[in-house]
Amino acid sequence: MPIISPSVLSCDFANVQRDVEMINASEADWFHIDIMDGVFVPNISFGFPVLKAIAKHANKPLDCHLMIENVDPYITEFANAGADILTVHYEACTHLHRTIQAIKAAGMQAGVALNPHTSVNVLEEILPDLDLVLIMSVNPGFGGQKFIDSAVEKVAKLAALKAKLNPSLVIEVDGGVNLDTGDKLVNAGANALVAGSFVFKSEKPTQTISDLKKL
Ligand code: DX5
Ligand code: ZN
Repeated sequence: MPIISPSVLSCDFANVQRDVEMINASEADWFHIDIMDGVFVPNISFGFPVLKAIAKHANKPLDCHLMIENVDPYITEFANAGADILTVHYEACTHLHRTIQAIKAAGMQAGVALNPHTSVNVLEEILPDLDLVLIMSVNPGFGGQKFIDSAVEKVAKLAALKAKLNPSLVIEVDGGVNLDTGDKLVNAGANALVAGSFVFKSEKPTQTISDLKKL
Protein backbone atom coordinates (compact mmCIF):
# COMPACT_ATOMS: atom_id res chain seq x y z
CA MET A 1 0.00 0.00 0.00
CA PRO A 2 1.62 3.26 -1.07
CA ILE A 3 1.72 6.38 1.06
CA ILE A 4 -0.79 8.84 -0.46
CA SER A 5 0.03 12.54 -0.30
CA PRO A 6 -2.72 14.70 -1.83
CA SER A 7 -1.33 17.96 -3.23
CA VAL A 8 -3.06 20.91 -1.60
CA LEU A 9 -2.06 23.04 -4.63
CA SER A 10 -5.24 21.79 -6.33
CA CYS A 11 -7.56 22.48 -3.39
CA ASP A 12 -10.06 25.34 -3.22
CA PHE A 13 -8.09 28.08 -1.44
CA ALA A 14 -11.31 29.85 -0.50
CA ASN A 15 -12.13 26.72 1.48
CA VAL A 16 -8.75 25.51 2.75
CA GLN A 17 -10.08 24.35 6.11
CA ARG A 18 -12.84 22.31 4.48
CA ASP A 19 -10.42 20.63 2.08
CA VAL A 20 -7.85 19.96 4.83
CA GLU A 21 -10.56 18.31 6.92
CA MET A 22 -11.54 16.16 3.95
CA ILE A 23 -7.95 14.88 3.81
CA ASN A 24 -7.88 14.43 7.61
CA ALA A 25 -10.93 12.16 7.39
CA SER A 26 -9.67 10.23 4.35
CA GLU A 27 -7.20 7.36 3.97
CA ALA A 28 -4.48 9.82 2.88
CA ASP A 29 -1.23 9.60 4.82
CA TRP A 30 0.34 13.03 4.30
CA PHE A 31 -0.41 16.53 3.01
CA HIS A 32 1.74 17.50 0.01
CA ILE A 33 2.50 21.22 0.17
CA ASP A 34 4.01 22.86 -2.93
CA ILE A 35 6.01 26.03 -2.28
CA MET A 36 7.06 27.94 -5.44
CA ASP A 37 9.09 31.14 -5.66
CA GLY A 38 8.65 32.29 -9.25
CA VAL A 39 12.43 31.94 -9.75
CA PHE A 40 13.21 28.23 -9.64
CA VAL A 41 9.87 27.52 -11.34
CA PRO A 42 7.73 29.82 -13.52
CA ASN A 43 4.95 30.09 -10.96
CA ILE A 44 4.34 31.42 -7.43
CA SER A 45 2.15 29.36 -5.11
CA PHE A 46 2.09 30.44 -1.45
CA GLY A 47 4.34 30.91 1.56
CA PHE A 48 4.39 30.73 5.35
CA PRO A 49 0.98 32.25 6.21
CA VAL A 50 -0.85 29.66 4.11
CA LEU A 51 1.43 26.83 5.31
CA LYS A 52 0.65 27.80 8.92
CA ALA A 53 -3.08 27.93 8.19
CA ILE A 54 -2.91 24.40 6.74
CA ALA A 55 -0.83 23.19 9.71
CA LYS A 56 -3.43 24.55 12.13
CA HIS A 57 -6.08 22.15 10.81
CA ALA A 58 -4.04 19.22 9.45
CA ASN A 59 -3.69 16.12 11.61
CA LYS A 60 -1.27 14.25 9.32
CA PRO A 61 2.38 14.94 8.44
CA LEU A 62 3.12 17.93 6.19
CA ASP A 63 5.21 16.81 3.21
CA CYS A 64 6.66 20.10 1.95
CA HIS A 65 8.06 20.27 -1.58
CA LEU A 66 10.19 23.39 -2.00
CA MET A 67 10.47 24.62 -5.58
CA ILE A 68 12.62 27.54 -4.52
CA GLU A 69 16.17 28.83 -4.89
CA ASN A 70 18.07 29.78 -1.75
CA VAL A 71 16.56 27.27 0.67
CA ASP A 72 19.03 27.53 3.55
CA PRO A 73 17.85 30.78 5.22
CA TYR A 74 14.29 29.40 5.51
CA ILE A 75 14.87 25.89 6.93
CA THR A 76 14.19 26.78 10.58
CA GLU A 77 11.10 28.77 9.62
CA PHE A 78 9.69 25.75 7.76
CA ALA A 79 10.22 23.62 10.87
CA ASN A 80 8.51 26.26 13.02
CA ALA A 81 5.62 26.49 10.55
CA GLY A 82 4.92 22.76 11.00
CA ALA A 83 6.77 21.02 8.15
CA ASP A 84 7.53 17.35 8.94
CA ILE A 85 9.28 16.42 5.70
CA LEU A 86 11.27 19.05 3.79
CA THR A 87 12.14 18.19 0.19
CA VAL A 88 14.50 20.43 -1.75
CA HIS A 89 15.42 20.31 -5.43
CA TYR A 90 18.79 18.87 -6.40
CA GLU A 91 18.94 21.49 -9.17
CA ALA A 92 18.51 24.37 -6.69
CA CYS A 93 21.06 23.34 -4.04
CA THR A 94 24.76 23.87 -4.71
CA HIS A 95 25.74 22.59 -1.26
CA LEU A 96 23.16 19.84 -1.02
CA HIS A 97 24.94 17.88 1.71
CA ARG A 98 25.00 20.95 3.99
CA THR A 99 21.32 21.67 3.28
CA ILE A 100 20.30 18.08 4.08
CA GLN A 101 22.18 18.13 7.40
CA ALA A 102 20.51 21.45 8.30
CA ILE A 103 17.04 20.02 7.57
CA LYS A 104 17.74 17.06 9.86
CA ALA A 105 19.23 19.28 12.56
CA ALA A 106 15.96 21.26 12.51
CA GLY A 107 14.12 18.02 13.36
CA MET A 108 12.56 17.30 9.97
CA GLN A 109 12.91 14.40 7.55
CA ALA A 110 15.00 15.29 4.52
CA GLY A 111 14.08 14.73 0.89
CA VAL A 112 15.57 15.58 -2.50
CA ALA A 113 13.47 16.14 -5.63
CA LEU A 114 14.75 15.48 -9.15
CA ASN A 115 13.50 17.26 -12.25
CA PRO A 116 12.62 15.01 -15.22
CA HIS A 117 16.01 15.57 -16.89
CA THR A 118 18.13 14.79 -13.81
CA SER A 119 19.54 11.28 -13.48
CA VAL A 120 19.03 9.35 -10.23
CA ASN A 121 22.76 8.53 -10.36
CA VAL A 122 23.65 12.03 -9.11
CA LEU A 123 22.24 11.01 -5.71
CA GLU A 124 24.49 7.98 -5.16
CA GLU A 125 26.74 9.67 -2.58
CA ILE A 126 23.98 11.46 -0.66
CA LEU A 127 21.42 8.63 -0.73
CA PRO A 128 22.37 7.08 2.66
CA ASP A 129 21.64 10.48 4.29
CA LEU A 130 18.16 10.88 2.79
CA ASP A 131 14.74 9.90 4.09
CA LEU A 132 13.00 10.47 0.76
CA VAL A 133 13.58 11.06 -2.94
CA LEU A 134 10.87 12.79 -4.96
CA ILE A 135 10.88 11.86 -8.64
CA MET A 136 9.16 14.58 -10.68
CA SER A 137 7.02 13.06 -13.42
CA VAL A 138 6.16 16.54 -14.79
CA ASN A 139 8.25 19.69 -15.02
CA PRO A 140 7.55 21.37 -11.69
CA GLY A 141 5.47 24.52 -11.46
CA PHE A 142 1.86 23.58 -12.17
CA GLY A 143 -0.77 21.02 -11.30
CA GLY A 144 -2.72 19.17 -13.97
CA GLN A 145 0.13 18.43 -16.42
CA LYS A 146 0.64 15.30 -18.48
CA PHE A 147 2.66 12.45 -16.93
CA ILE A 148 6.13 11.94 -18.42
CA ASP A 149 6.38 8.19 -19.05
CA SER A 150 10.14 7.90 -18.53
CA ALA A 151 9.54 8.48 -14.80
CA VAL A 152 8.56 4.81 -14.44
CA GLU A 153 11.98 3.54 -15.58
CA LYS A 154 13.61 6.18 -13.39
CA VAL A 155 11.76 4.84 -10.34
CA ALA A 156 13.03 1.34 -11.15
CA LYS A 157 16.62 2.64 -11.36
CA LEU A 158 16.25 4.43 -8.04
CA ALA A 159 14.73 1.29 -6.47
CA ALA A 160 17.92 -0.60 -7.39
CA LEU A 161 20.08 2.09 -5.74
CA LYS A 162 17.78 2.06 -2.70
CA ALA A 163 18.21 -1.73 -2.26
CA LYS A 164 21.99 -1.28 -2.27
CA LEU A 165 22.41 1.96 -0.31
CA ASN A 166 19.35 2.82 1.81
CA PRO A 167 16.57 0.20 2.11
CA SER A 168 14.33 2.45 4.22
CA LEU A 169 14.28 5.27 1.63
CA VAL A 170 10.84 6.54 0.56
CA ILE A 171 10.50 6.82 -3.23
CA GLU A 172 7.79 9.39 -3.90
CA VAL A 173 6.51 10.46 -7.33
CA ASP A 174 4.85 13.77 -8.17
CA GLY A 175 2.97 14.90 -11.27
CA GLY A 176 0.21 13.42 -13.40
CA VAL A 177 -0.49 10.59 -10.96
CA ASN A 178 -3.77 8.74 -11.48
CA LEU A 179 -4.82 5.10 -11.08
CA ASP A 180 -3.14 4.08 -14.33
CA THR A 181 0.21 5.89 -13.88
CA GLY A 182 0.12 5.19 -10.12
CA ASP A 183 -0.13 1.46 -10.76
CA LYS A 184 2.92 1.50 -13.04
CA LEU A 185 4.89 3.56 -10.51
CA VAL A 186 4.09 1.27 -7.57
CA ASN A 187 5.07 -1.76 -9.64
CA ALA A 188 8.38 -0.08 -10.44
CA GLY A 189 9.11 0.50 -6.73
CA ALA A 190 7.47 3.79 -5.75
CA ASN A 191 6.08 3.73 -2.20
CA ALA A 192 4.59 7.23 -2.02
CA LEU A 193 2.34 8.97 -4.55
CA VAL A 194 1.45 12.65 -4.78
CA ALA A 195 -1.86 13.44 -6.47
CA GLY A 196 -3.30 16.91 -6.97
CA SER A 197 -5.83 17.37 -9.73
CA PHE A 198 -6.73 13.66 -9.80
CA VAL A 199 -7.97 13.95 -6.21
CA PHE A 200 -9.40 17.46 -6.07
CA LYS A 201 -11.04 17.48 -9.51
CA SER A 202 -12.72 14.12 -8.93
CA GLU A 203 -16.41 13.84 -8.04
CA LYS A 204 -15.59 11.99 -4.84
CA PRO A 205 -12.13 12.99 -3.56
CA THR A 206 -12.30 10.75 -0.49
CA GLN A 207 -13.09 7.73 -2.63
CA THR A 208 -10.36 8.66 -5.11
CA ILE A 209 -7.84 8.70 -2.24
CA SER A 210 -9.04 5.23 -1.16
CA ASP A 211 -8.66 3.99 -4.74
CA LEU A 212 -5.06 5.25 -4.89
CA LYS A 213 -4.37 3.68 -1.50
CA LYS A 214 -5.34 0.26 -2.88
CA LEU A 215 -2.63 0.36 -5.60
C1 DX5 B 1 3.93 20.43 -9.53
C2 DX5 B 1 3.72 20.08 -8.10
C3 DX5 B 1 2.78 18.98 -7.89
C4 DX5 B 1 1.38 19.22 -8.39
C5 DX5 B 1 0.89 17.89 -8.87
O1 DX5 B 1 4.99 21.30 -9.66
O2 DX5 B 1 4.95 19.70 -7.50
O3 DX5 B 1 2.77 18.54 -6.53
O4 DX5 B 1 0.51 19.73 -7.42
O5 DX5 B 1 -0.33 18.07 -9.50
P1 DX5 B 1 -1.01 16.93 -10.38
O6 DX5 B 1 -1.19 15.73 -9.52
O7 DX5 B 1 -2.28 17.57 -10.81
O8 DX5 B 1 -0.05 16.66 -11.53
ZN1 ZN C 1 4.89 18.76 -5.49
